[in-house]
Amino acid sequence: MPLFKTIDISPTSKVFLWKITEDFNELFRNVTLKDTSLARLEGMKSEGHQKGFLAVRMLFQHNGYDDFDLYYDDFGKPHLHDGTHISISHSFDFAAIVLSECNIGIDLEQIKGKIIRLAPRFMDVSHLENLSETDTMRKATVVWGIKEAIYKLKNESGISFQDHIFENPFQLSEKKCSAELHFKDIVQHYNIIFEEIDLEGSQPDGHNYMLVCAVESE
Ligand SMILES: CC(C)(COP(=O)(O)OP(=O)(O)OC[C@H]1O[C@@H](n2cnc3c(N)ncnc32)[C@H](O)[C@@H]1OP(=O)(O)O)[C@@H](O)C(=O)NCCC(=O)NCCS
Repeated sequence: MPLFKTIDISPTSKVFLWKITEDFNELFRNVTLKDTSLARLEGMKSEGHQKGFLAVRMLFQHNGYDDFDLYYDDFGKPHLHDGTHISISHSFDFAAIVLSECNIGIDLEQIKGKIIRLAPRFMDVSHLENLSETDTMRKATVVWGIKEAIYKLKNESGISFQDHIFENPFQLSEKKCSAELHFKDIVQHYNIIFEEIDLEGSQPDGHNYMLVCAVESE
């Protein structure tokens, strides 16, 4: 399937989502890879991961880029040679990139029940009070995504989801919120936008996805 959806999250930041319906060979045939990317692809243990990696390259091509326009720094953060900021996420049947004029982080997560059990390990569970089970699952997934997205944006070793990144209270209906990173005696504020990807029942396993983006607030 070609591009599934685009989301304008600000005048200068746009998200692109690919729904992976192709098999490995079809994706592989349609992208050109650098030798280093080919080696990475060959080293990946699961075909799901390989397909996510290739679908991200399809998204590059949709935007006039190719694999040669991208490089990774020593921590694994992707950068484009032309200076446009990029962040990448893949999860099961979806791949996502965000392109922006400012530093930005993206995370895409399948919404699953096990997040409720894990929530006390990474978030303030008082933010989950008085919610239905489904909304608890959704909100905990947003908070996980906030922490992944800020981690990707900041890209510094030593950041812990539990000890350094804090979500401020929010309602799911708002589709936006704020969060803070308290790290090395500095407090940095972030604006968060999130959106549940509506699959209209098209997922055989019934799981929807949550997309989260983080940008530094002015
Ligand atoms: C790196 C990390 C953020 C990746 O997240 P993930 O949910 O596993 O995977 P995603 O598909 O969302 O993202 C993967 C992409 O993140 C990007 N990425 C990897 N390291 C990155 C970094 N240091 N900074 C920014 N982006 C990074 C890459 O583009 C990667 O995809 P690619 O290699 O195919 O291009 C995550 O594995 C991680 O290390 N998190 C921090 C550790 C932690 O605190 N975990 C929780 C403990 S409670």
